[in-house]
Amino acid sequence: MDYKKLCEMAIDAMKKSYSPYSGYKVGAALLCKNGKIFTGCNIENAAYSPSVCAERTAIFKAVSEGEKDFAVIAVAGGKDGEIQGAFPPCGVCRQVMAEFCKEDFVILVATGEESFKEYTLKELLPEAFGPAYI
Ligand code: THU
Repeated sequence: MDYKKLCEMAIDAMKKSYSPYSGYKVGAALLCKNGKIFTGCNIENAAYSPSVCAERTAIFKAVSEGEKDFAVIAVAGGKDGEIQGAFPPCGVCRQVMAEFCKEDFVILVATGEESFKEYTLKELLPEAFGPAYI
């Protein structure tokens, strides 16, 4: 799977964002090792704390469909859907990634409509607490 294509899918998913409170639209596209792709967007709530990020929407969609082996996630976001530099995953989403993914899991963060930065989970969440500790 072409990384640029996965970023385009995240940008498409961003358009479905339900974010009337923050105005930040975020989309994610999660590539499973078997080639399946799950997309997600952030979904906010008037009570604020029930809100969920785009990355977790995509991951939870996948897990609820029986997929747990993930290779890459692309994330795109910005105020009013304008991608102006990186919009990297929040700490909670990084922790959820660490539940299912190894250190070499790839995280692509769109920096523009056609550009992205590439990280590993180890880079974004070093010394992660995960299932191995339980
Ligand atoms: N958001 C995400 O969807 N992913 C992240 O990793 C960072 C934050 C969402 C949550 C909220 O709806 C909005 O962006 C502003 O924080």
